[in-house]
Amino acid sequence: MEKGVPMDLVTVLLFALACSLAFASDPSPLQVATKYSNGSNVTAVNVDKLRGLNILSISVARIDFAPYGLNAPHTHPRATEIIVVLEGTLYVGFVTSNTNNRLFTKVLKRGDVFVFPIGLIHFEWNVGNTDALVFAALSSQNLRLITIADVVFGANLPINRDVLSKAFQVDKNVIKYLQKQFK
Ligand SMILES: *[C@@H]1O[C@H](CO)[C@@H](O)[C@H](O)[C@H]1NC(C)=O
Ligand SMILES: *[C@@H]1O[C@H](CO)[C@@H](O)[C@H](O)[C@H]1NC(C)=O
Repeated sequence: MEKGVPMDLVTVLLFALACSLAFASDPSPLQVATKYSNGSNVTAVNVDKLRGLNILSISVARIDFAPYGLNAPHTHPRATEIIVVLEGTLYVGFVTSNTNNRLFTKVLKRGDVFVFPIGLIHFEWNVGNTDALVFAALSSQNLRLITIADVVFGANLPINRDVLSKAFQVDKNVIKYLQKQFK
């Protein structure tokens, strides 16, 4: 980063360090996907594309956002992620684990940096009417991706509606509706 570029890194990094983090190297290859989801595309590097990543516990991804595009709440169970905004304005955030469930958010502009600590649910939303571009570095070559809405409402096979009805404290018809969105 250039000098003078605004950075939110320090605060968030301090927080990240406060969490007890465990880093382990990954013998298995990076699972890579190009994904289209609600105005954003994630293009992650494949160990097949860049074989030198093997056993290095690091990977990189490019995230393209259409205006108001969203990278929906998700988690990487095996990777802390640091992002750099190259273009656009993004509202980003993550939530700490039980029982605090504390939300940390920030509006990021070009040149800003933000950290999503390992395992925590996070999101990025382009709040501008222009495209946005983000690069992300992740501390695993096999970071895993769990997109919350997809796994909860789009599970294959579907999770029992009584279970979800009780868990989310809503009527089963609401669950039915949500499950339909992720078929
Ligand atoms: C994106 O999110 C909006 C708002 O929640 C929703 O109306 C729309 O159907 C979603 N689109 C996709 C492709 O998921
Ligand atoms: C994402 O990829 C799809 C399919 O290639 C493309 O149509 C769409 O414009 C892309 N969206 C963004 C925000 O880059």
